[in-house]
Amino acid sequence: MKQKLLWLLVNLCRFVVAAAFIFSGVTKMIDPHGVEYKLQDYAEAFGLASLMPSTVAIVAGMLLALVEFRLGFCAFFGIYRRITARILLVFMLLFTPLTLYLALTNPVTDCGCFGEALVLTNWQTFGKNIILLLCTIVMVVWGRTRQLRIISESRQWIILIYSQIFVLCLGFYALWRLPLVDFRPFHIGANIPEQMQDGGDAEFVTTYLMEKDGKQQWFGLEDYPDSTWTYVDSKTEVIGELIPAAIDNLQMYDQTTGEDLTDMVLADEGYTFLLISPSLEDADDGHMDAYNRIYDFCQANDYRFLCLTSSNDSCVVRWQEMTGAEYPFCHTDNLTLKTMVRSNPGLLLLKGGVVIGKWPFTDMPDIDEDSPRLEQSELGRLHVEGNAKMALKFFLWFIIPLLVVTFLDRVWWGTSIVINRMRKKHNIVKQLNKKTMRKKIVAGNWKMNLNLQEGVALATELKEALAAEKPNCDVIICTPFIHLATVAGITEGTVIGLGAENCADKEKGAYTGEVSAAQVKSTGAQYVILGHSERRTYYGETVEILKEKVDLALANGLKVIFCIGEVLEEREAGKQNEVVAAQLESLYHLSEEQLANVILAYEPVWAIGTGKTATAEQAQEIHEFIRGIIAGNFSEKAAEEISILYGGSCKPSNAKEIFSKPDVDGGLIGGAALKCADFKGIIDAWN
Ligand code: 13P
Repeated sequence: MKQKLLWLLVNLCRFVVAAAFIFSGVTKMIDPHGVEYKLQDYAEAFGLASLMPSTVAIVAGMLLALVEFRLGFCAFFGIYRRITARILLVFMLLFTPLTLYLALTNPVTDCGCFGEALVLTNWQTFGKNIILLLCTIVMVVWGRTRQLRIISESRQWIILIYSQIFVLCLGFYALWRLPLVDFRPFHIGANIPEQMQDGGDAEFVTTYLMEKDGKQQWFGLEDYPDSTWTYVDSKTEVIGELIPAAIDNLQMYDQTTGEDLTDMVLADEGYTFLLISPSLEDADDGHMDAYNRIYDFCQANDYRFLCLTSSNDSCVVRWQEMTGAEYPFCHTDNLTLKTMVRSNPGLLLLKGGVVIGKWPFTDMPDIDEDSPRLEQSELGRLHVEGNAKMALKFFLWFIIPLLVVTFLDRVWWGTSIVINRMRKKHNIVKQLNKKTMRKKIVAGNWKMNLNLQEGVALATELKEALAAEKPNCDVIICTPFIHLATVAGITEGTVIGLGAENCADKEKGAYTGEVSAAQVKSTGAQYVILGHSERRTYYGETVEILKEKVDLALANGLKVIFCIGEVLEEREAGKQNEVVAAQLESLYHLSEEQLANVILAYEPVWAIGTGKTATAEQAQEIHEFIRGIIAGNFSEKAAEEISILYGGSCKPSNAKEIFSKPDVDGGLIGGAALKCADFKGIIDAWN
């Protein structure tokens, strides 16, 4: 439950952060000039205006927008989750104190974090940043594995590159033409006089402080007192909500007469072209013929044409000389001009105060004095694409390819999961099939324990136990030589196989104290353990000696339980594979038919009689390796058919887990084989 809530919290935070950063990046990129002006405002407020020329501000603004967008995009899709969360946190740790400082000192009124799309006060921005900071902390602390991935790692680069290119195109489009979405109050279709009016239901109420006979009292207009009262003071209060006008500083002063033409222009029901140039010094003059042709068109058709600029008279004169401009000029506030159109110069067509059209200098309307009148042409008609429609268009252009790629990725991902599951299931079945083909064996190695009577008692007890409950595997007991003949009489005709713990490396003759393979066989035993680590260590049995013993055992019709295994130092040095491979050399000369009579027993020496068991995974790993060696030296078939037992502190409590591994076919049991209940417990692990 707690985990689920944490998962929800992480993903909620991550989507909040993603939405804020994507929106912030896109709204900035849509209007690089807007960000340029904002950065210049900041630079000026901090006395660093000289460090922020136009080009630097544009590049910095676009980079900032790109980084914000990328971070938001990565957070949204769950791309580079860890690094993204960390960078976001660093970002927020930098910007939150900065916005607190801005809120306290108010050097610029609007922070500009969402361009012109959403204007926030500095305190609102600070509040927003606190929320984002908390979200990024959640993402860093708990989000490493909990952020839901929306696209696979192998294909994330496609959408990342696509989206970055798309968003950059947005920026370059805006620089070359105009912002794709116009959030400013001069957008096409905007009614400028309406945008110049304050909104809300605010009322201005004035009250007056009056005095009579030394007594002062406040009066409203409705109860204003008679002339026996004298006026002292007054105050005006705003009652209700006042929404300030979107356009608060639009005036057009005729450059030659100084006359304010604003009302006249805005009220004109005819067409007016406004050529807008915040500064003529920096304006593009490469398209001057187009500006002049449009002016000629206006002259021929009796439309108004004004050039609005905040440049001084000498700049105007220079422009006139340079471009041959004959049109009249008006002085207008610089910031307002920059807001009107993001191009220098840009062109606005007004009719009745409504913006009918808007063009950057790179895309001036192709008209001259012979062109049809605006009343009869498309140019003069208002085509309100509308901000919403435009935004939707943009959104769809961006989102549809993204959705398609993401959808295909998810389908692919889903399919590969199903295929993998099926493959895994198939593999397990295959493994199990292989395993069921092989003999499952539990063999006991009594070592040098139990006298004859004890051995007979144990064998008898085991025989009875297994007669009562048939085992699900082959059972073998390997006893000292002295037990063999007697125990053979007990095990004969039962499920229990009998084996010796050793045999001589000589066929027969004067080898005092030795017991040959033939002699073992003659007792009724069917198996012999060879290569046990205790014999290798204490009796110096080498690969060559064991080779002889294996040959003799097989030649005498005994099945060999061949032991291999590394000592602790070899395991710690990671040499276990090397060691067992070398020990197996005693078998490499055998034919496949001979190998069919060999059972392998992997017994890590550090686990024998120590109580320290190899983990089931360790056992599986090396058993798989051993099987691989057999496959390499004999054949796949031989490898699949040979049983490989595990030995070393195997008990009823751990046998089941070890035997469950696909390459473990049973156990060679030491200590636990000396008690019937324990040995039976291990045999039962196969049930
Ligand atoms: P333990 O089961 O006592 O560890 O001995 C294993 C063994 O050596 C069997 O051959």
